[in-house]
Amino acid sequence: MKSWAVGIASLMLASPATALTVDLSSDSSIKDTASTIAYGLLKYYHGNTTGGIPGLLPGPYYWWEAGAMFGHLIDYWYYTGDSTYNDITLQAMMHQINAPDGDFLPRNQSNAMGNDDQGFWGMTGWRGAQAVFNEYVVRWNEENGLCGGGLRWQVYSTLSGYDYKNSIANGCFFNIAARLARFTKNETYAEWATKIYEWESGFGLIDKDTYAVYDGKYIFENNKTCGNLNPVQYSYNTAIWLTGSAAMYDLTKKDSWQTHINGLMNYTQSMFISQEGGHLWEPPCEQTSKGCDQNQVSFKGYMIRSLAYTAKTAPWTADTIAKILAQAAKDAVASCIGPADAKYMGPDGTACGFTWLKGATYDGLAGVGPQMNALAAVFYNLQKDTKPPATSDDRGTSKGDPNAGSHMAQPMSEPRAIVTADRAGAAIVTLLITAGILSGSWFLMTDLFD
Ligand SMILES: *[C@@H]1O[C@H](CO)[C@@H](O)[C@H](O)[C@H]1NC(C)=O
Ligand SMILES: *[C@@H]1O[C@H](CO)[C@@H](O)[C@H](O)[C@H]1NC(C)=O
Ligand SMILES: *[C@@H]1O[C@H](CO)[C@@H](O)[C@H](O)[C@H]1NC(C)=O
Ligand SMILES: *[C@@H]1O[C@H](CO)[C@@H](O)[C@H](O)[C@H]1NC(C)=O
Ligand SMILES: *[C@@H]1O[C@H](CO)[C@@H](O)[C@H](O)[C@H]1NC(C)=O
Repeated sequence: MKSWAVGIASLMLASPATALTVDLSSDSSIKDTASTIAYGLLKYYHGNTTGGIPGLLPGPYYWWEAGAMFGHLIDYWYYTGDSTYNDITLQAMMHQINAPDGDFLPRNQSNAMGNDDQGFWGMTGWRGAQAVFNEYVVRWNEENGLCGGGLRWQVYSTLSGYDYKNSIANGCFFNIAARLARFTKNETYAEWATKIYEWESGFGLIDKDTYAVYDGKYIFENNKTCGNLNPVQYSYNTAIWLTGSAAMYDLTKKDSWQTHINGLMNYTQSMFISQEGGHLWEPPCEQTSKGCDQNQVSFKGYMIRSLAYTAKTAPWTADTIAKILAQAAKDAVASCIGPADAKYMGPDGTACGFTWLKGATYDGLAGVGPQMNALAAVFYNLQKDTKPPATSDDRGTSKGDPNAGSHMAQPMSEPRAIVTADRAGAAIVTLLITAGILSGSWFLMTDLFD
């Protein structure tokens, strides 16, 4: 056992050796730093090793978080051009999409399958997005008294949380509908996106004046009532509604979506950016030391992804967002000074902490979430040379399969959809073809969630 003196000495010695820095005026500096953080992140992943299961992170990380990680990695490739992780990303998605249904609903995860869990994978692989969309439509629950619409949190009635209609599950549906609408121009998706937003806002889950996004509402089956609001506010809830609104604005150019974006942006700035220092944070749990759980410590990375997407699709937000992203990069890098130890297998002195509220400090909370947040905070600063996500008439050639999904009896169709993108796209296409199991629709890998 180490004495405390040795422990402290090794901590102090470890940090300066490889301390990360980032110069935001230099693309190569951003890419180098992001690459080091990504390297540390992938040390948590063993799904590509012998005996590993592609797409799964080891405990305590849930299945959905791995989906979120691959979402970040696809954007990492799109923004930086670094294709190092494309092969393991494809391998993971192919494995988890769970042929023949192609719907990211693997049986192994039945003991904890939320609509949001499925959504985080669906948003990562657009091949699965239409299938997930079709299943959401079937699950949309208009039973009288039970809040007249909306998805329940959980997919299966035996799971706890089946009696909860929440902003993240419905936000996944909204986001997938909006992104499919933007990509395909199919009216059905746009109509659903509007309907889901109206439901969310009509039931007070998004406050019409302040644009606060509340977590959810309980429903009571026994007396068929729509119960109390759970008013807690997490950044990923706001993020997912912001992204979908940005997609809908880009598609329709309607004032109503512009207003929603402005409202959600205002709310983001007042709620999730600290008044002192302008740091992104997670107010419900970050106030108390180590108050955020394994899931919650990853949320602000999705907020960053959402802001980057919004800047690209609702251009009047770009200047405000550039400042937020720049501050986030500085904050994140300043926290990435933790040692290589049992919690972090990357280079010594580069483990990223969770909180960014306290300047250049490492709070000891190394893990997948904080490492993902830092990765996102750095590479999304490559905004200016990155094109907006593709659509079917702008760089996208994927045809998709509107009938995908397990409630349809038919098997997935023959290979026919191929992904293109103007940057490093050829590598992905080659990988997809090499994989040889293309079916249904790979929507542009680059048109991602967020
Ligand atoms: C798994 O992927 C990581 C990250 O790309 C890589 O470093 C490692 O060599 C891969 N392992 C195997 C067995 O392919
Ligand atoms: C489900 O679990 C089995 C047994 O561990 C494993 O072989 C398989 O790859 C898993 N499937 C998925 C989609 O993760
Ligand atoms: C319905 O049932 C729930 C749970 O038993 C209870 O908390 C709630 O007060 C009831 N509502 C009405 C209107 O009776
Ligand atoms: C957002 O904030 C600006 C500046 O305070 C304000 O003018 C605008 O009305 C707000 N927009 C919404 C939709 O709340
Ligand atoms: C639009 O999407 C809906 C819902 O998936 C589908 O039924 C319909 O066939 C699609 N229309 C076209 C023209 O692809």
